Parts: sequence; C-alpha cells; structure tokens
Amino acid sequence: MTDTSLPLTHLPRQVTVVGAGNVGSTLAQRILEHNLANVVLVDIVSGRPQGVALDLSQTAGSEGHNRTIIGTNDYQDTAKSDIVVITAGLPRRPGMTRDDLTQVNGKIVADTLRQALAVSPHASVIVVTNPLDVMTYLAWKVSGLPPHRVMGMAGVLDSARFQTFLAWELGVPPRDVSAMVLGGHGDLMVPLPSYTTVSGIPVTELISAPRLGELIERTRNGGAEIVQLLKQGGAYYAPASSAYVMVEAMLLNQRRILPIAAYLTGQYGLDDLYLGVPCRLGQGGIEDILELTLTPGEQVALVRSAASVKAQIPQALVLLGS
Ligand code: NAI
Ligand code: 2OP
Repeated sequence: MTDTSLPLTHLPRQVTVVGAGNVGSTLAQRILEHNLANVVLVDIVSGRPQGVALDLSQTAGSEGHNRTIIGTNDYQDTAKSDIVVITAGLPRRPGMTRDDLTQVNGKIVADTLRQALAVSPHASVIVVTNPLDVMTYLAWKVSGLPPHRVMGMAGVLDSARFQTFLAWELGVPPRDVSAMVLGGHGDLMVPLPSYTTVSGIPVTELISAPRLGELIERTRNGGAEIVQLLKQGGAYYAPASSAYVMVEAMLLNQRRILPIAAYLTGQYGLDDLYLGVPCRLGQGGIEDILELTLTPGEQVALVRSAASVKAQIPQALVLLGS
C-alpha cells in the first residue's frame, strides 16, 4: 500500500474524477484502495456515479482504507478538489472520423472542465479522454491555467505496455524493465529503445533489432489489440493504473520522471502543442520537461507524430467559441 504519511495539514486531499465509466470508476477504485485521497466521481448519467460510489464505499472495510467517495451529477459537490481528472467522453464508433470524435469529445471536455474548475480553481488537471493530445490542448485553452498544471495521460500507459511486452520477451519481471515512449497517443507514438533498459542494460543489447521492431509495433497497437478482443469498449485497467501513477506523483510530491503529454514551447524543436515528453511531476504539476538527445530517426518520428497532433488542433479550437 502507498505510503500516505503526509503532514496532517495536507490531508485529506480530494480528487474529482469526471466520467464514471470504465476508466473513471477504476481510477476511483485505485485512489481509494491506495488510501491516497477522497474522491468525487461525477458523470452526466443520473445514478451511474452514485451507484459506483456506493459500491466502492463498501470496499472500505475489506480493503482497509479510510477514504470517502461521493457520486454526483452536480459539480458543486466537487468543490475544492486538488486534482481534476477528465475521463468523460465517447469512444470512436464505426463510421466516425477522428475529427468527428474531436468535436464530440472536445465539447464534453470543455463543458465538464469549465464546470469542475469553477468550483476548484486551484486544481491541476489530468486529461485522459481521447484523442488525448488534442483534448489536453483544448483543456489547457479552456482552463486558463498555466500549462504546467494541465497535462495528458498516455505516455505512462504506452510505456507500461512496452515494458510488459519486453518483460514477456525476456522472461524478467516487468519492474526490471524501464521503458520510455514519447510522442502523441496514436499510431505514430515514438517508443525509444535507446532510453529503454533492463536492470540498467540497454534493451538493444538483449533483443535483436527486428524483434524489437515487432514489439514496438505491438506497443503502437496496444489499445487497438484490446478493443479487438473486448469487442465493446477499450482498455481500462492499465489506463486507470497509469492515471493513478500521475495522481499519486502529484499528491505525494514524488517528483517522478514520467512521459506525460505536456505543453511544448520549443523543446525538441516543437511548440504550441501538447505531446508526450519526459517530465518531472510533483505537487505543483509539471516541474520540468527533459530534453533527451534523440537519434536522427527518433527525432524525425517525433516531428511526424507532432505534425499529426497539430493537424487536429484547428478542429478542436472551433469549440472554444461555443
Ligand atoms: P466509458 O464509455 O466507459 O466512460 C465514459 C463516461 O463518460 C460514461 O460514464 C459517460 O456517461 C461519461 N460522460 C459522457 N459525457 C459526459 C459529460 N458531458 N459529463 C460527464 N460525464 C460524461 O469510457 P472509458 O473506457 O472510461 O474511456 C473514457 C475515455 O478515456 C475515452 O475517451 C477513451 O478513449 C479514453 N481513454 C484514453 C486512454 C489514454 O491513454 N489517454 C486510455 C483509455 C481510454
Ligand atoms: C488505449 O490506448 C484507446 O487510448 C486507448 O487503450
């Protein structure tokens, strides 16, 4: 269980989770069961967050946590939260283009975030809703907050998938693998073998280039592979776990270095977009963006990924007037 031995003045912390669907409910469960913070779960569907919250409340005895959870459709109940996590949104349906999804989820992200921040103006924001990088950009614009307090969750998940596939390949525990995936959360994400190690050994020493290429491809398709198996809905255990890692890093001021969708202002030669890059994450949000030396191939791949994210931004910005 997480060490939550913070000074009493720092407790209790409160996290608003917007969207009581699969990712939101599972994230709420993790926060409670790690005894990290109180949770307010908010959703547009009447009864859904209330039912999930009641169910999760009844885990306190068996799981031995003493945090509370409220389920609500009213943002007033979310007031004074330290962190707002946006998981509300619709999945991409057959026939829907990426731009269609940007419009639908962009409206949801903008509406919910405005309501959440109106009563929690000091909160930091983690966006989970897809398309991730452009939704995070929109959230930042809507929020009026400094960019270090608005970030997107994807790199932690993509790196966790890469870590898992590498551990399976080598027959080692996943915790021995330290993997790094940058770029946008999509087909063009950029796994970095040059910054991926197994107990300190570069992975390139342990796995042949062609096989590594196959594992990178599986990582890029990590979300789609699960959608194909589930047939309805997408992954949520690892996404919730990854969002939890970010919430924990901030609430416990861990200052961890994690791949996070952060606002770029010239780093890696890119600016005015959100993209997955290594960041130091602490209680104030993103404290630093680390600029790694990339190989020419990795830099080209990052620029390509950035271009694909940037192309979606105008579509999202249309929503700012509404
Ligand atoms: P889900 O469909 O299970 O849950 C979405 C929830 O949002 C539903 O309960 C729905 O009622 C709620 N919602 C819709 N409109 C709302 C509004 N206006 N206000 C409040 N709540 C609203 O979906 P799931 O699986 O939880 O995924 C959520 C989002 O996270 C999706 O956009 C998905 O693509 C994304 N995702 C992103 C990942 C990442 O790595 N960034 C990983 C996994 C999922
Ligand atoms: C995932 O990577 C679809 O973003 C979602 O599982």
